[in-house]
Amino acid sequence: MRIAAVADLHVKENGSQSYKELFAEISSKADVLVMAGDLTDLGKPKEAELLASDLRSCTIPVVGVLGNHDYECGAVDEVREILKDAGVHLLEGQAVEIGGVGFAGVKGFAGGFGRHMLGSFGEPAIKAMVAESVEESMRLENALRQVRSHRAMVVLHYAPIPETVAGEPEAIYPFLGSSRLAETIDRFPVSAVVHGHAHRGTYQGKTPGGAPVYNVAAHIEKPTGRPYALLEL
Ligand SMILES: [Fe+2]
Ligand SMILES: [Fe+2]
Repeated sequence: MRIAAVADLHVKENGSQSYKELFAEISSKADVLVMAGDLTDLGKPKEAELLASDLRSCTIPVVGVLGNHDYECGAVDEVREILKDAGVHLLEGQAVEIGGVGFAGVKGFAGGFGRHMLGSFGEPAIKAMVAESVEESMRLENALRQVRSHRAMVVLHYAPIPETVAGEPEAIYPFLGSSRLAETIDRFPVSAVVHGHAHRGTYQGKTPGGAPVYNVAAHIEKPTGRPYALLEL
């Protein structure tokens, strides 16, 4: 199966950029489109409607997760409904199987990497942040448990490894993802992982357990020479 993956489209309310042609092009080149979060710029229902309208030119199944930007306006329930009505398989701790490939998706969260990960110590606000990070990993675990196929793709917004955020200022790495996601991924047979969020990151990396990871943020240079990656699974 050929999978096109892109993240961080950040669709804006003013309609400054249309993705109609891009979605039509992707439909001619891939069997499934995966969108790894920050679908909208500010999480406004109007932005989600514009994306839904552009998605009418997409003739292949669409799998997606939300990003932090999709939460900005506090209208995430509306955004979610608009995208689901547009036919997007929006994954928030669930899995969907398409053409023999299981897609397990979750937004993920921040928290940092390796032995520099934020620990659950001190103020309640810090503990709440760590708890959110742990909870997103557990949602991913539940999603992966639902996958029956031996070919599985994990879809995230936040990064599971530091390699694919390299290029961003090192000071913000802890806000770009969490190793807790990679720890969960490595307990399952996963064929590929895609994420976004780090617009200036690096295209390719691997989890400590060897699962290939791709940062598919639209801004990142890819072998296709296009905003999306093409992955064979
Ligand atoms: Fe983004
Ligand atoms: Fe983001």
